[in-house]
Amino acid sequence: MEPDCTAVCGISRVRALELMLQYLPQESMQKHSLATEAIMRALACKLGRDEDLWGIAGLLHDLDYNETRETMARHGLVTEQILTEQGVAPDIIQSIKAHNADKLGFRRTMEFEHALVCAECITGLIVATALVYPDKKIAAVKPASVIKRMKQKEFARSVNRDHIRECELIGIPLEEFAVLSLDAMVEIGPQLGL
Ligand SMILES: [Fe+2]
Repeated sequence: MEPDCTAVCGISRVRALELMLQYLPQESMQKHSLATEAIMRALACKLGRDEDLWGIAGLLHDLDYNETRETMARHGLVTEQILTEQGVAPDIIQSIKAHNADKLGFRRTMEFEHALVCAECITGLIVATALVYPDKKIAAVKPASVIKRMKQKEFARSVNRDHIRECELIGIPLEEFAVLSLDAMVEIGPQLGL
């Protein structure tokens, strides 16, 4: 049985997963959420932070995606309502709102906030890089390829490079962040179908 993280997160991993699957029926969003969770857990482990707290934030960060995709200025705010009702820890909710800080009109200042935005953004770049390979497997992707693709502005244009570079604000050089993120995603490769 999975250990229960409710005491720290205000929600169990089982319940958080249930909510994510309920609000995000698209497979692509489910995979993006799981990948973000895996990278957040790896970042927390590296920085000595709480892995469940950071992981649950990754898992739930896009919960209101379908409700706010037309009104991005609300992205994160609807999630705040849902998660507040569920009794989720305020730190998680704050960091989720902060991944859309640009549109919500504030600046990210905390380590947890920078971690979530760089984690969720690099998943897009890694998936796009993997899809270029013949077998489309993440395990075949090299960190150097991710870095190379990052520098090609036309490649996966919608992925915000500045957001990925926020890893450096939490003391993790870009190359190291690419390695950590790839490793984390390879570990859950079967779940991602990549
Ligand atoms: Fe996201």
